[in-house]
Amino acid sequence: MNLIDILSALQIEPEFNSQLGGGRFSIVFPGRYRGNNGKPVAIKICAPKINPAPHKNTTNKYCSSLKYGGDVFKRDIEIQETLCLKIGDNVIQVYDSHLNRQFPNFAILERGSELTLEGLIENSQDFSLPSKIKVIEDIASAIYAVHQQGYVHNDIKPGNIIFEMGAKIKADTNKNLLCEIMGKPKLTDFGAARLRGERIRQILGTPQYISPDILTEDRFDVYFDIYSLGVIAYELLSFNQFPSRIKLAKSGNSCLILPTNVPLNLIWPPSFYQKGHQKLIESVNRMVSTKPASSRQEDKRYSSMREVIKDLQEARELLEKSGTYY
Ligand SMILES: Nc1ncnc2c1ncn2[C@@H]1O[C@H](COP(=O)(O)OP(=O)(O)OP(=O)(O)O)[C@@H](O)[C@H]1O
Ligand SMILES: [Mg+2]
Repeated sequence: MNLIDILSALQIEPEFNSQLGGGRFSIVFPGRYRGNNGKPVAIKICAPKINPAPHKNTTNKYCSSLKYGGDVFKRDIEIQETLCLKIGDNVIQVYDSHLNRQFPNFAILERGSELTLEGLIENSQDFSLPSKIKVIEDIASAIYAVHQQGYVHNDIKPGNIIFEMGAKIKADTNKNLLCEIMGKPKLTDFGAARLRGERIRQILGTPQYISPDILTEDRFDVYFDIYSLGVIAYELLSFNQFPSRIKLAKSGNSCLILPTNVPLNLIWPPSFYQKGHQKLIESVNRMVSTKPASSRQEDKRYSSMREVIKDLQEARELLEKSGTYY
């Protein structure tokens, strides 16, 4: 059977003339169930475009890109299916999957909103500061749910966070028409996910968001997701300035481009600071801190996403109490 026949047997009408997105391992098309009130879905089809991830050390046994991509796709969907059962709406739902077949490997997913985190970052000046903090808190809660199941996502970035269908932007007349986003962010793309404590054999993730700690730590840990969320927080709060200073880190036979920390206090001049700003800056700077070079130095990293959520919530409440929206 070809893909169209299989989709038809699943009562799905694909819309191949438009595309929801595409990544290193897949192409994602919209579709709808024939019954079920035409419920929208996303059809994620395995289509690897890259070579295998570099090994952490120099000995690098590459397998074919197709096999590697197929393995990543299978792992991605299987972990997502497991997490759907355990932590419900923190992740994009998997309705059906065809894996282990010669061709085609694909999954039918809950379709997310057209509102994207990239869009929110691009237009971040239109959103109130507390509402942006709330979005970071909600993403942190979804990641924390994954951590509680013993997994590290390892590829936290805006493209892997999708708002639920029906998410809306609301302008608040009491807050100078600044907007807030109404709708839950959910996680997707678990192709790089690993069990916490699993030995690091390959560098996984997306260079701009990877924690430099992947080069020095031996095992996957929650620090990696906290760092990546810190980069997103930085982008969202700094009006879309990506941490711009970069350094090249050499690892075995591969090079990574990693962001270095740019102090957030450049965004709000000290004269403008409220207590909430101070708390927020400290929190984001802690999220993007890395393992100290020597054991005599203090390790400033958060050891749990739960602490991140608590600090962000405290910063937001301080800002809300003082009526600060910027
Ligand atoms: N369920 C969905 N609803 C709407 N859009 C989606 C959905 N799933 C994926 N997309 C879109 O397709 C893009 C690629 O999807 P995804 O990240 O799952 O693929 P990938 O091949 O694993 O990507 P990557 O390059 O990050 O490894 C997403 O960034 C998003 O824009
Ligand atoms: Mg992705």
